[in-house]
Amino acid sequence: MSATLDITGTTRVYGVIADPIAHVRAPIVFNPLFEQRGTDAVMVPVHAPSDQLEIVLDGLKAQPNFGGFAVTVPHKLAIMGLCDEVGRQGRLVGAVNAVRFNAQRRMIGDNFDGAGFVAGMRAEGHEVTGRSVLQLGAGGAGRAIAFALADAGVSRLVIHNRTRAKAEELAAAVSAAYPEIPVSVGAAEPDGCEIVINTTSAGLHDGDPLPIDDKFLKPDLLVAEIIMIPEKTRLLESALKNGCNVQYGRHMLDKQIDLIGEFLGCFQ
Ligand SMILES: NC(=O)c1ccc[n+]([C@@H]2O[C@H](COP(=O)([O-])OP(=O)(O)OC[C@H]3O[C@@H](n4cnc5c(N)ncnc54)[C@H](OP(=O)(O)O)[C@@H]3O)[C@@H](O)[C@H]2O)c1
Repeated sequence: MSATLDITGTTRVYGVIADPIAHVRAPIVFNPLFEQRGTDAVMVPVHAPSDQLEIVLDGLKAQPNFGGFAVTVPHKLAIMGLCDEVGRQGRLVGAVNAVRFNAQRRMIGDNFDGAGFVAGMRAEGHEVTGRSVLQLGAGGAGRAIAFALADAGVSRLVIHNRTRAKAEELAAAVSAAYPEIPVSVGAAEPDGCEIVINTTSAGLHDGDPLPIDDKFLKPDLLVAEIIMIPEKTRLLESALKNGCNVQYGRHMLDKQIDLIGEFLGCFQ
């Protein structure tokens, strides 16, 4: 325990809401940042069993010094349905991962997974606007990233997923929301794309298959990963060996923390 926060009656309270709760990491990320920045705030774990969720939220809403919360499993979808307002990315993704209370104590939610990825790329000097992208995966994180890439104005988005029907559903949803962006379903081959992004969980475990054949990893390609552990997945190892530029998974989370902190109003 390294936090030495000075919690007083003026301290603004933020939460991270989950069930189970023991594994949540947001307090150990946010509290040292509050301390470094001299912000009079604290983040606490909020354990909300699904059948008590509305009661817990009503209680938080009733506390004027409770500023908002990060949302994690299993509440991202249910809490979206309970928000008074949801930002565009949250609505498109169908899930929120941060909620703030405004001055009228209305619950405003949004999703920062995809924006975190795009901001993480930019922070490392990798612009996505105007670039052609092959996205591998159409799971929860992939869904958020696909909408954020379209929002950022990629020149072309090709989605490949092991279960093709999910790629088709996601491509159709992104096309409907961003008709100006060419979006298609394709093979796990760059086929002229400048950036390949692995949003699958293939690479988390030893023995996982590569999400793309390494014969396609040519030196002009930027290969981005969102898996954080291991830091250097087999895909990134192959990409580096083949002379590609790479983007590590941690940058997505780093930027999400910044974006969520700004959204909650706790990084002032
Ligand atoms: N850096 C960050 O901030 C951040 C944030 C969120 C998630 N993540 C990471 O992103 C990864 C995906 O998370 P998620 O929440 O999107 O999971 P998810 O909803 O369960 O989706 C998993 C995706 O991976 C695909 N997949 C799984 N195993 C595969 C394999 N062996 N070969 C090819 N495709 C495979 C699935 O394809 P099917 O549809 O065919 O099953 C699906 O597209 C996880 O590793 C997670 O740790 C990172």
